[in-house]
Amino acid sequence: MESALSRFLVGLSVKISRSDGRVHSATVTSANGDKCTAMVEWYERKICRGKEIQVTELCALNPELLDHINNVLGNAAPPARPAPDKVNFGEASRPNQKFYEMIQDFRETLEVIPLSSNSSVEPRRICVCVRKRPLNKQEMNKKEIDVVSVPGQGALLVHEPRQKVDLTKYLDNQAFQFDYSFDESATNDLVYKFTAKPLVQSMFEGGMATCFAYGQTGSGKTHTMGGDFTGKQQNSSKGIYAFAGSKTVFALLNHRRFSNLDLSVYVSFFEIYNGKVYDLLNKKAKLRVLEDERQQVQVVGLEEVCVSTAEDVVKLIQLGSACRTSGQTSANANSSRSHAVLQVVLRRNDRATTLHGKFSLVDLAGNERGTDVSSNDRNTLVETAEINRSLLALKECIRSLGKNSDHIPFRMSTLTKVLRDSFIGEKSRTCMIAMVSPGMASCEYTMNTLRYSVEDTSVFDAISQVTELEEKVYVELRVELVLLYRE
Ligand SMILES: Nc1ncnc2c1ncn2[C@@H]1O[C@H](COP(=O)(O)OP(=O)(O)O)[C@@H](O)[C@H]1O
Ligand SMILES: [Mg+2]
Repeated sequence: MESALSRFLVGLSVKISRSDGRVHSATVTSANGDKCTAMVEWYERKICRGKEIQVTELCALNPELLDHINNVLGNAAPPARPAPDKVNFGEASRPNQKFYEMIQDFRETLEVIPLSSNSSVEPRRICVCVRKRPLNKQEMNKKEIDVVSVPGQGALLVHEPRQKVDLTKYLDNQAFQFDYSFDESATNDLVYKFTAKPLVQSMFEGGMATCFAYGQTGSGKTHTMGGDFTGKQQNSSKGIYAFAGSKTVFALLNHRRFSNLDLSVYVSFFEIYNGKVYDLLNKKAKLRVLEDERQQVQVVGLEEVCVSTAEDVVKLIQLGSACRTSGQTSANANSSRSHAVLQVVLRRNDRATTLHGKFSLVDLAGNERGTDVSSNDRNTLVETAEINRSLLALKECIRSLGKNSDHIPFRMSTLTKVLRDSFIGEKSRTCMIAMVSPGMASCEYTMNTLRYSVEDTSVFDAISQVTELEEKVYVELRVELVLLYRE
């Protein structure tokens, strides 16, 4: 039987507030007198959306309904009068409300062409993409505003909030162009299709491929590479690492084009922290990197496990990921300062197990450390210098690859040294995925990530920063040595 509450509410146009703080109108489609809730619906970009809200919340935003509802519900009803601090929720209480509205206005004028799994993928030697993650719970609770828009077709916009000297607020809208841009609704599957998937095939054709996830800590590198998180648990089968070693690989292995090559698939997984290599498939054993007279670089003793199914690969990713985070106090503590490299290797089944192709997938260290020169702790400084140097070296190597240059500055860092064979030869291919956090508080880091990925000028700033850092470390070391000698 239709309740008195439904008779009164259904069909009314009311104001509702959203989890990101927006307040807009919606229509009540049903009401539940027992639960004291109402279902509301509204249209967003031509898509009908809905949610269930408490009648108390409805009254807080629509005080004119209050007396009617109290009448309808009578004395038996739960108190419909809102708590005073709930009034105006999402309006005056949001810091930067003005900027928020300006960004919303701007977005209304944007024409969005989303990337779909049906869109075609163009093979490229170097592919640079960007992925925006959604605002997370903490950011929403702080009512942070989302300053990044992805209109599609490779474009990404940052709406940088600015203020003039006379305190007028304005937006500095900056556009960046990539090969592909992924918005917050993109799944790891979709990202994989346009980034790493084309490289899997190239490995069978005898190529060396690399795929990097670059960005500030918390921007989604591990989510993208290692697998998405459902609650606290990471789902290792839903990341680019796993997709790169998925059924496709084993199907290609038996495909008539490649079956006569008689290949086997191997997986290795290691971490580079402070210039040292640690084996994630062998209890973090510390390994040496050696270069022979023919400039062949070897990681001595690295475990390479032969795999025959996609499930084997997922198990190894789980093992390595658990090993990577073990012994850490907080989830991101050490992993944000190290590079994690998963390699899928194809070898011939001959006596020398000759290398046929290799795909290296790298979850890079957080790039925000690359600019942190303010710390006085020596360990942090050494670490920062190393991260700086490796990210810089990586960019230089990718640039040399793009120019078909003979000189590849791979010796600059351990990361580029161990990936040396991926930067040389006709069949080298690489893909960089820049990850960005959407919040206004991350704006500066987001801009750094985007500049690293699309421009070259910042390289020179970074070089001078490395030098500055190293000088600081050496000066400190010298002081310590002097003190030691005196003792
Ligand atoms: N595209 C995304 N969709 C949903 N949640 C995401 C996404 N990217 C990252 N996250 C979440 O954000 C948090 C930080 O991501 P993480 O991958 O650990 O960052 P990073 O490795 O860059 O430090 C994690 O809780 C993760 O689940
Ligand atoms: Mg991470």
